Amino acid sequence: MAENFDVIVIGGGPGGYVCALRAAQLGLKAACVESRGALGGTCTNVGCIPSKALLQSSHFFEEANHGFAAHGIKVSKVELDLATMMARKDDVVKQNTSGIEFLLKKNKVAYLKGYGRIAKASRGAHEVAVKDDAGQETTYVTKYVVIATGSDVTSLPGITIDEKSVVSSTGALKLPKVPKSMVVIGAGVIGLEMGSVWRRLGTDVTVVEFLDFILPPMDGEVRKQMQRILEKQGMKFKLGHKVTEAKPGKDGVAVKIEPAKGGAAESLTADVVLVAVGRGPFTKGLGLDTAGVTVSKRGFVEVDSHLQTNVEGIFAIGDVIGGQMLAHKAEEEGVAVAEILAGQPGHVNYDVIAGVVYTWPEVAGIGKTEEQLKEAGIAYNVGKFPFTANGRARANGDTDGFAKILADQATDRVLGCHIVGPEAGDLIMEVAVAMEFGASSEDIARTCHAHPQLGEVVKEAALAANKRALHI
Ligand code: FAD
Ligand code: NAI
Repeated sequence: MAENFDVIVIGGGPGGYVCALRAAQLGLKAACVESRGALGGTCTNVGCIPSKALLQSSHFFEEANHGFAAHGIKVSKVELDLATMMARKDDVVKQNTSGIEFLLKKNKVAYLKGYGRIAKASRGAHEVAVKDDAGQETTYVTKYVVIATGSDVTSLPGITIDEKSVVSSTGALKLPKVPKSMVVIGAGVIGLEMGSVWRRLGTDVTVVEFLDFILPPMDGEVRKQMQRILEKQGMKFKLGHKVTEAKPGKDGVAVKIEPAKGGAAESLTADVVLVAVGRGPFTKGLGLDTAGVTVSKRGFVEVDSHLQTNVEGIFAIGDVIGGQMLAHKAEEEGVAVAEILAGQPGHVNYDVIAGVVYTWPEVAGIGKTEEQLKEAGIAYNVGKFPFTANGRARANGDTDGFAKILADQATDRVLGCHIVGPEAGDLIMEVAVAMEFGASSEDIARTCHAHPQLGEVVKEAALAANKRALHI
């Protein structure tokens, strides 16, 4: 038996490494087990970070091709060097993963490289076995275990992801050349972000979505507007359709689609098919059975309001417990668990977690949508303001979209905010702070916003919720 710890976190993603860091800050002896050879999890290695690197690079490419001329900048021939773009992306990932390793060292968190499993659940002295790449297993004793093993790609029946012509997001982040055509299955976040990257680089992208609309969890008005904008950019949509087959052949991938409500099948052909129909919990080889940890029907680890599983001293956070599969949600849960273990009142406010889609323009939402408020029978005021009426957006040449604030009709408390527009993801954070403080829309409206800024759109939307917008 090797060293003893207060807490061993299994999984080094944004949930896991942040939990270990916070636990160490609070004086607990902490370890983080990670098997992929680099810290940062899905997010840093094959998710948030590489996708944003490619979104940024492809945005520059699109601007150079189509955006500069309006500013009086003539570019004679814009050429794509995909290998350099990909190498830059890999470098950005490396900077981030090594940065996290440095943070663990600095905070004296033991980084246990290898595959972790709960070998024995025993109150106050759980055992975690870690198998390294050479197959050597070492067992550690720990008061607490935190499961932070994240999520994995899911596919559809009959569709095999080979990461060559039928790819998941992981394959879509490293295609060796720009495909002529791509069918994206699923108009969720991955479908629209990765679809945008390749469309900007020259691919003809068709998105097939089972539902009658894109971006299911977002506000209805935002979804419609975003679809129009993406169509204007050249993305095609086949809504209300499901893919029943995707077979790679010598002329590309033959894709069969059918109307979701029944009807005649259609065939499409594409160089590449991206499967982006959601992700599932990852708990393979984790020893949940041995430990007696309960999972839901869909395999998510079940936790109580303190993020503890049914087994005392074993907690779980992040994608593996479901809910919003977002890095910042996982991080908040990591912090909350560390604080609970240190005897503090750790807590996550699930009502104030922003969802952001990093297309251009961006889409961002926080709190309740109009549909949710209607369903709950809550009377609300709506304040809306378009980017076309914002001076900075006009100066930038980025006027697509709007901001919408939803406030309780009786108390004026902000219940939600939804933005389509340039930098929507950053703009929504002032509303997150306002909501965390229980602010009213008048509080936002009376806060002096610097001019000329895109954030004035949020202020004007707050003014509009009280029927007193100034610039429209
Ligand atoms: P993960 O990040 O999945 O980390 C779990 C880690 O545990 C993995 O590194 C895995 O190797 C390790 N592991 C698993 N089992 C074991 C074991 N038994 N032993 C040792 N190690 C183990 N979210 C956002 O908020 N913003 C974004 O912009 C964003 N973009 C995304 C883009 C893509 C393409 C994808 C796929 C996801 C994106 N996400 C984004 C979602 C985000 O990546 C996840 O919500 C987040 O990574 C979840 O964190 P986690 O710590 O729960 O799990
Ligand atoms: P998603 O849940 O966002 O979207 C999946 C889409 O596929 C849905 O619109 C769904 O209706 C559709 N779908 C499901 N089955 C289908 C079928 N048979 N045929 C056609 N369409 C079908 O999942 P996605 O995009 O795979 O992303 C996974 C997770 O990663 C998400 O939960 C998301 O939170 C996270 N992520 C977050 C990002 C961000 O925060 N910017 C970026 C990328 C991913």
